[in-house]
Amino acid sequence: MRIRTILGRALRYIFYGVPIQVTKAQIFYTQPSKQLEGKKIIITGGGRGLGFSMAKKFIAEGAEVLIAGRNEETLIKSANTLKCKYLTLDISNTNEIYTFLQKANELLGEADCLINNAGISLHEQDFTKVTSETFDQQIAINLKGSFFMAQKFIALLRAKNKKGNILFISSETGATVDDRPYGWTKAAINSMTQGLASKMIREEIRINGLAPGITASEMTGYDTEGNLFSGASPSGRIYLPEEVAEIACFLISDISACISGQIIYCNNGKTLNTRW
Ligand SMILES: NC(=O)c1ccc[n+]([C@@H]2O[C@H](COP(=O)([O-])OP(=O)(O)OC[C@H]3O[C@@H](n4cnc5c(N)ncnc54)[C@H](OP(=O)(O)O)[C@@H]3O)[C@@H](O)[C@H]2O)c1
Repeated sequence: MRIRTILGRALRYIFYGVPIQVTKAQIFYTQPSKQLEGKKIIITGGGRGLGFSMAKKFIAEGAEVLIAGRNEETLIKSANTLKCKYLTLDISNTNEIYTFLQKANELLGEADCLINNAGISLHEQDFTKVTSETFDQQIAINLKGSFFMAQKFIALLRAKNKKGNILFISSETGATVDDRPYGWTKAAINSMTQGLASKMIREEIRINGLAPGITASEMTGYDTEGNLFSGASPSGRIYLPEEVAEIACFLISDISACISGQIIYCNNGKTLNTRW
């Protein structure tokens, strides 16, 4: 949990007597039923966080998975745990994406699913703290990298006349206004998801977005085993990567064959424009 959050709670307790609430999550899993059998899935940013949990779930459902990211040590450790393939990738080097995908196909066999998950949030305090570097980095990884990954992946599917599935990991911040680049990248991801989906559905390439609320990972600093209390969430808690993975599994399985061009929010309706 971030120092700011801990301090905030301590101060609320001292000044207003608001109790420090400890919240754990009780989440439910579908029993593995081989719903992804035969699928070959590339997960960018699969070495840790949400990407790792998705890899674990997909493998349990019978898929073959390749995880990718910049840190080889993390990838080796995770690939050994998951018993899957891995490849290093810096998604911001867009000129290397095509070669990466070709290598991934050599290792995995021809992939038919892509999880465009790699992303960073630089947590600038507000727009006054955004620098040219933080702006460029977030655009390069979250937006430009994800776009060219999808473009090249589609080119490879088309070359083999294959159908496929792409899932963009967006964010609830994509549904709200933001004064920082992270939210802008996710709003653009939503538009990209829907634009690409409308172009590709006739070729049986389904494209959806999954937009989590605040979820425990290194990005947010929340520990999956720790206190998940969140006053800012309608559910009263931070989400777990495993519950996001369940929804991702549904979206790339053939069970959701009639769903494309949708952004599925995993935040209990927090971003609905309603009278809360
Ligand atoms: N956690 C949340 O609350 C939350 C909420 C909404 C959306 N999301 C989205 O979910 C996705 C995963 O986030 P997370 O919470 O799991 O974060 P995380 O724990 O920080 O993991 C981010 C992953 O992305 C990879 N990555 C970062 N930059 C990369 C690059 N240039 N090239 C290739 N891989 C790169 C990282 O691997 P390396 O460092 O090894 O490269 C890591 O595997 C992100 O797109 C994020 O925006 C997260």
